[in-house]
Amino acid sequence: MKLENLTVEHQVKPIGLDIEKPRFGWVITSEDFNVKQEFYQIKISTDEKIVFDTDKINSEQSIEVVIKDLVLEPKTPYEVAITVWDNKGNFASDSTIFETGFLGTAWKSSWVEPEQIPTEYTMDFDKGMESFEIVTNSDPNRDYKEFQPVHYLRIPFTVKENLKKARIYMTAHGIYTLEINGTKPDDREFAPENSTYERVLMYQTYDISDKLIEGDNIVSIALADGWWSGRVGASGDTCQYGNTKGILFQGEITYSDGSIDIITGENAKSTFNGPLIFSDIFVGEKYDARKELNGWNTVEFQDFEWKKVNKVDFEMNNLYGQYGEPVRPIKTFKPLNIIKTPKGETVLDLGQVIAGQVEFTIDCEEGREIRLEHSEVLDSDGNYFNNILGINKEQTDFYITKNGKQSYRPIFTYHGFRYVKITGWTENIDVNDFTAYVLSSEMKDLGNIETDDERINRLIQNIWWSQVSNTLSIPTDCPQRERAGWTGDIMAFAPTLLLNRDGNAFLTRWMKFLREDQGENGSVPSVVPYLKAYQAVMQLFGTETSCGWGDAVLIVPLSVYKACGDTRILEENYVAMKKWLSYIQNRAENTHPDAYEEWDEEHKKRSKFLWNTDFHFGDWLVPSMVLGNTDGGAMIETAFKTKDVVAPAYYAFSAKSMAEIANVLGNKEDEKYFTDLYENIRKAFIEEYVNEDGTIDANLQGLYVIALKNNLVSDEVKPKMVNQLRTMIKENNYCLDTGFLSILFLMDVLCENNSRDLAYKLLFQTNCPSWLYEVDKGATTMWESWGAIGKDNSVSTYSYNHYAFGCVGEWIYREVGGIKSLEAGYKKIKIEPALDCGLKHVKTSQYTPYGQVCVEWKYATDNQVSVTIEIPVNTTAEINLPSLELIVVGSGKYKYTVNY
Ligand code: BGC
Repeated sequence: MKLENLTVEHQVKPIGLDIEKPRFGWVITSEDFNVKQEFYQIKISTDEKIVFDTDKINSEQSIEVVIKDLVLEPKTPYEVAITVWDNKGNFASDSTIFETGFLGTAWKSSWVEPEQIPTEYTMDFDKGMESFEIVTNSDPNRDYKEFQPVHYLRIPFTVKENLKKARIYMTAHGIYTLEINGTKPDDREFAPENSTYERVLMYQTYDISDKLIEGDNIVSIALADGWWSGRVGASGDTCQYGNTKGILFQGEITYSDGSIDIITGENAKSTFNGPLIFSDIFVGEKYDARKELNGWNTVEFQDFEWKKVNKVDFEMNNLYGQYGEPVRPIKTFKPLNIIKTPKGETVLDLGQVIAGQVEFTIDCEEGREIRLEHSEVLDSDGNYFNNILGINKEQTDFYITKNGKQSYRPIFTYHGFRYVKITGWTENIDVNDFTAYVLSSEMKDLGNIETDDERINRLIQNIWWSQVSNTLSIPTDCPQRERAGWTGDIMAFAPTLLLNRDGNAFLTRWMKFLREDQGENGSVPSVVPYLKAYQAVMQLFGTETSCGWGDAVLIVPLSVYKACGDTRILEENYVAMKKWLSYIQNRAENTHPDAYEEWDEEHKKRSKFLWNTDFHFGDWLVPSMVLGNTDGGAMIETAFKTKDVVAPAYYAFSAKSMAEIANVLGNKEDEKYFTDLYENIRKAFIEEYVNEDGTIDANLQGLYVIALKNNLVSDEVKPKMVNQLRTMIKENNYCLDTGFLSILFLMDVLCENNSRDLAYKLLFQTNCPSWLYEVDKGATTMWESWGAIGKDNSVSTYSYNHYAFGCVGEWIYREVGGIKSLEAGYKKIKIEPALDCGLKHVKTSQYTPYGQVCVEWKYATDNQVSVTIEIPVNTTAEINLPSLELIVVGSGKYKYTVNY
């Protein structure tokens, strides 16, 4: 028996936590059968003194463990020693650490800003749809004169003898890199990352104890625009939060006698006369190696000409200790090859669409300008093709060489790409001169599925790649065009995200931003962080939100609860959820469609339960309405065609989900209230939209899927509606025709309504639109539009990296792999693989909060399947295999033979 994966707040050894009552978790492994934890004991100590001992507690709980009476001090490191005893007379111990942040105590330093020219504000709230207009790319000779240079700052300080520990607490308006005496304290990127800045701004805590020397030391910081003042969102506008960059810096050096020296950013000196001529998180950067500030990060460097920084006043109550693992290079690999295109271009091919950067090494003379342009596809002739149009979408880096051998990887920018067009370097260029860096928020990989069908395996990988590309700091739609926290995309994808990787802390953090961005009236913005650039767009639609998008406030926490057994995320967001429901309720009751005045009293009465007004994105991107049409107008048409049915149907979904959440939290009164509300919406919906023959006038597949999933049909009419859906799928040649808000329910609706055969047909379909069509067309990520590469190989200007349609991943793990959670966090499991799906060999594993669950099934003969199953300690599993009786087991490894 062993302990592993000890976590604090779902993180490994977090430092700088601003959480009063952190949650502890551990996983027990054992070779034995039916092992359960019987007791646990946690001892918390600091400075080798025990500050809390829970004593031996008789409990099975091994996740989400809170010590109610533990009181934590700010800025203090703690050790957590955990011992558990099982039901077989064994015990195991292990320990981990964490450290608190300011916990609300005051900072001793102030914000400072280097001398700078403020970034020009480009936001124009009257610009209207122009901000979304697809204009051709910027001038290839653009000089980027309006872009600001990167600032370099130095903070000198001395360290006396008998150093005990040293920390840096730091954040920025902009993004920064930090070095202490010339070395980085860790490999994080883009600190302090993307956030709602004015409302929540994360600060980072660094343990620099082993980086200091007695005597003179130097901290060096480079500071770029980032999300603060850089060009972001669909419109590429600047200054979403401010137009001048700054830092907040506090070093604390503690000596053995308990005395503390505070180092503040106020002593910093700065210059912008360095190698980074400009750097924009979206557009790219220009690095002139000839202008490198040699030795600027060492004590010896002479900075006489550098300017003093200015103290500035900013609110400090938005500061919050970094929660969740940072953005890092999570993978590096050698690109596939370098190609000469028919047009004669030199193009590096990574072989994989990613969000990240390339690093290169070159040996050459000084003054050569190397230009790297990034894109996700080549055109049908194999030439470089820029798939992202718009303003400030260049994805281009410039590097000007110094003399000799040199390496460069961008510092403050990243791109969404597979191909890099290289100019200024055509001779002696070799694929081995390059390394690809995949950047993403660090998370533990949890799920894996491998089958005997390479196409399904590739689909699973494509979903993973789109996930890591779009979980860089916040959940985004795509990594190249918008990088925006579109709430609808993560609403649909969260369940899959949580099976692929441990996204608990990541989503918990984003929910904090969402709560802060929620309107007074309860409306949840369609984009979080709610950038001004998107406020301007939403203003055109006369709303801040949309059904389905705003529902992220319910569905993201509920998904985390289900996958991780985390109830705190439900509690923490409960008020926000109820506010969202009352927002919808208010819209449904108090706003009316144009025809309202002509309605009879009955009709008016039921309209109270229908959200039949306002703009909504509806069942966004219904394939039959947008395929072959890249015009933004066609997309908006899907919104208008579907919104009037989708919004009331999603209102039912919201009320139903709310009742489920109230039930988890034991709030009976609310549960009843939302169940009644759901019943009223259901009744009104059926009367208003469902015809006796099971059809809905707007007659699109997705509408039936949403209605069936939420039982918005009477028992009598339901078979007819199922039939209608079946017929439409058949008439559509078993291809997809569901948009963002229906695809997440599609496969379940089919499985729950005696139509598994159709679910399998859709899964294995290779004609467009379908999941495997993209795979057959060489996709390495999930696309925004099924037809992004047409049947005739025509290539369009879509995003090739959108995770939303990858939400089928969760269904594949659960239904094909057969690992189902019967109780939140997989405390109770059901093993029920789809032996009839057509695959012959499937191996699925899921690292649940209790440990590894594995199911492998393989056809030995045409009608004999061998199944091996692994169930973790502290859980029970129902095993349901054809031809065998359902059995309930505890932990252990099991083997069965199924005659089929
Ligand atoms: C984004 C989507 C998003 C949508 C809103 C698009 O531009 O890329 O993924 O949800 O707008 O409908």
